[in-house]
Amino acid sequence: MSNPLKIALAGLGTVGAGTFDLLARQSSLISQRAGRDIVVTAVSARDRTKDRGIDTTGTQWFDDAVKMAQEADADVIVELIGGSDGPAKATCEAALSTGRHVVTANKALLAHHGGELAQMAEQAGVSLQFEAAVAGGIPIIKSLREGLSANGVSRVLGILNGTSNYILTRMRNEELSFDEVLADAQELGYAEADPSFDIDGVDAAHKLSILAALAFGSAIDFDAVYTEGIRHISLLDVQFAQELGYRIKLLGIAARSDNGIEQRVHPCLVPEKAAIANVEYAFNAVEVDCDFANTIVHVGPGAGAGPTASAVVADLIDIARGHQVMPLSIPTASLSEIPTTSMDQHKGGYYIRLMVVDQSGVFAEIAAILRDHDVSMESVLQRGRAPGEPVPLVMTVHETMESSMNAALSEISALDAVDGNPCMIRIELLPA
Ligand code: HSE
Repeated sequence: MSNPLKIALAGLGTVGAGTFDLLARQSSLISQRAGRDIVVTAVSARDRTKDRGIDTTGTQWFDDAVKMAQEADADVIVELIGGSDGPAKATCEAALSTGRHVVTANKALLAHHGGELAQMAEQAGVSLQFEAAVAGGIPIIKSLREGLSANGVSRVLGILNGTSNYILTRMRNEELSFDEVLADAQELGYAEADPSFDIDGVDAAHKLSILAALAFGSAIDFDAVYTEGIRHISLLDVQFAQELGYRIKLLGIAARSDNGIEQRVHPCLVPEKAAIANVEYAFNAVEVDCDFANTIVHVGPGAGAGPTASAVVADLIDIARGHQVMPLSIPTASLSEIPTTSMDQHKGGYYIRLMVVDQSGVFAEIAAILRDHDVSMESVLQRGRAPGEPVPLVMTVHETMESSMNAALSEISALDAVDGNPCMIRIELLPA
């Protein structure tokens, strides 16, 4: 057997400790599959005294991850610190500039600096691997970069944030409010250090920008992702959606059109029979539409120590085998700058919920505004009877341009009989 692959682990949080544990518990299987042992020679974390349930005896301890990346006796630096800049970025840069391979689970770092890091890795002739950065245990990076590499991809779509999916699932199943479930998701450890990244769609947008680059051979462009989270989704909307035969999911969608690429993360109504509608709790799903393999759906746990460590170690096994691919599938110099299509140009169906004063003539006014903007109604629901008081009025509309929908909604919200801001959720008509 060849020399062991020596690794240094930066960050011993849930994923770091999980990776250390997996490497120890699966060592003989890993050695067999990698053709050599994979050993942890150094670790770095903030608190040396903390009990993490792992035995790091025999590994060199570094208080400073950057110093470790520069000085440790290691072939690979595994960056599990997190954060788009600061120590995580400095650690990866130090590793690449000293000619070491990098494995990272850091989607924020890649979304913001993935292009620069990929270029550094290419120049140094080393690997930059990031299977764990997107959809936890689902091997979607390998799927796009290798398994589907013979295909042109027209769309990548998925549930990319387990926390939001967990919240939306429990709201529907248990008739709970958004706030009640968020606290539980945080306790279960699914949420990011800053949970607003989960519920405001930022985490899913980080992941989508990486998937879009791999799918379309374009530069990673996080700023091009339209991002909207689930904070404004009420139990009322979850229930109305169900009544209309839909489920609400936070989706990330990157699609190619004649005008460029659209990248968007936002809540969607999806038909309840669609495969993705039935991916529940903290599970993730990624659907890839391509020209020869057709539609491939990947489903699995998107977060947590075990699934994420599984992805990190798969990358390490690839490096141990000497299997090296371009970080972004093609050389960074060949990545194209494909124009981004704006949300105004988006065409689709919409779910609209208004709180309207229960009095005659209100609906006629709303219908007239929709007509003036060429927005065609599909269905209408009104619940409750409270003369003179606001009651929910729900509509779905047929495919229309988002610019027309927004123009109609701004006129509708200005009506005296309409209370507060309308809730607008896009409908994604995915097949069953
Ligand atoms: N906070 C993320 C999620 C963890 O909820 O999906 C995995 O990236």
